[in-house]
Amino acid sequence: MLLHIPQVLTKQEVAQIRGELAAHAWVDGAHSSGAQAASRKRNLQLPADSPVYTGLARQVADALARHPLFASAVLPRQMLTPMFNCYAGGGRYGNHVDSAIQRDAQGKPVRTDVSTTLFLSEPEEYEGGELIVEDTYGEHEIKLEAGDAIIYPATSLHRVEPVTAGSRIASFLWSESLVRDAWQRKMLFDLDMNILKLRQQLGDSEEVVSLTSTYHNLLRQWAQ
Ligand code: NI
Repeated sequence: MLLHIPQVLTKQEVAQIRGELAAHAWVDGAHSSGAQAASRKRNLQLPADSPVYTGLARQVADALARHPLFASAVLPRQMLTPMFNCYAGGGRYGNHVDSAIQRDAQGKPVRTDVSTTLFLSEPEEYEGGELIVEDTYGEHEIKLEAGDAIIYPATSLHRVEPVTAGSRIASFLWSESLVRDAWQRKMLFDLDMNILKLRQQLGDSEEVVSLTSTYHNLLRQWAQ
């Protein structure tokens, strides 16, 4: 499931993050990937030892974690520390699938179920730079307002088109979900959203309470 998560950050928060990023050094992003992905990747990345990295990463992770759409769609068991990248001057990232396992800060393996890209540049600031995600329904082209995020299954083939003018700054992260199967996650999300709408229409009627209990019992079945 591809899902647009609007307004994860306010414009003011985006400006503050952009200001801190602009004042600090970036490094070649090829170092942070496996060998196959690295040969297809041309971008810059904020290094993990940057003095602003930990604070900015926490700010992004906290904003996502408290967004109700993200929480419902991802059902995160663990979120890896967000990273920051910048594409400019023809920078791109060719078709690839993200590594299935990443290590958290303590070196513990984390399965990557859901990928998230949070846009920090406005679409008018750069040419190209679309995130293209392939699924069974074809290719999807994503370019969002600064502060908005997209989530997509980490199993999908994806790429970032060359940025031919301006620069595209974004944050991205992987999450391990309580529910490993993407289809089960989607059904839970749809059920949750419909229960929410029914509650608004009907209040906590007997049927709404019953559906809510079905949601929780399904989650209990599927959560790992
Ligand atoms: Ni990727």
